[in-house]
Amino acid sequence: MARPKRPNVPVVIDGHEVMAYPDDTVLSVAKRNGIRIPHLCALDGVSVYGGCRLCVVDVAERHKLMPACGTAVAEDMEVHTQSRTLQEHRKLILEMILAEGNHVCAVCVSNGACELQDLAVELGVDHVRPDYQFPRRTVDASHPKYTFDPNRCVLCTRCVRTCSEVEGAHVWDVAGRANGSYLIADLGQPWGEAPSCTWCGKCVAVCPTGALAWKGKAVGEMRHDPNLVAFLTSARDEGEWLDRETM
Ligand code: FES
Repeated sequence: MARPKRPNVPVVIDGHEVMAYPDDTVLSVAKRNGIRIPHLCALDGVSVYGGCRLCVVDVAERHKLMPACGTAVAEDMEVHTQSRTLQEHRKLILEMILAEGNHVCAVCVSNGACELQDLAVELGVDHVRPDYQFPRRTVDASHPKYTFDPNRCVLCTRCVRTCSEVEGAHVWDVAGRANGSYLIADLGQPWGEAPSCTWCGKCVAVCPTGALAWKGKAVGEMRHDPNLVAFLTSARDEGEWLDRETM
């Protein structure tokens, strides 16, 4: 169904009435109205995954916390995005993500250009309570243009969804289960030997951490571009190019 020209679904977020489109999620309408909800796996322009759970919000009359990125709006829905409980949940979730990998900012090429790092600052994570897992994961530097360091991968699947849904190559996928899950290229071969990779670099652009990086970039030079996908899909689907300066 085509979107109406104007948003027509009233929703109350943190006491303010805002208007949503019928196909909005709580996160998308909040973003459009300048209401910040921390999030990590959500990426405009690709499907919802709902894996990180950092975007939890309180929705009145639902008796559990809901992920804002995967919760569709409904008329007169009442949402709370800020409370002590929510902050505590988000903080602990982020600590668990940090404990699961080897996120050592001081030796990461994305230091200073990392959404995980920014979230840690935003949520006040100055130490990590769960035990560090210190997984032993091998870096894949086989690709001529890019590197993949699984130690810094948070399994947000942004790269998986972007490569599959936008580039149409589906190089990346997740293998294994639970905390034994890991990212694979094609059928598990080194990235540089994955025949389906088109070298487009979109996966690197949308990676929120230093897991996927350009070779030859020094700290301070490394940049990601998470708005790239929304820009591309808006141009393809709507014929309306989003203004990248205002995204
Ligand atoms: Fe909503 Fe990750 S951003 S679950």
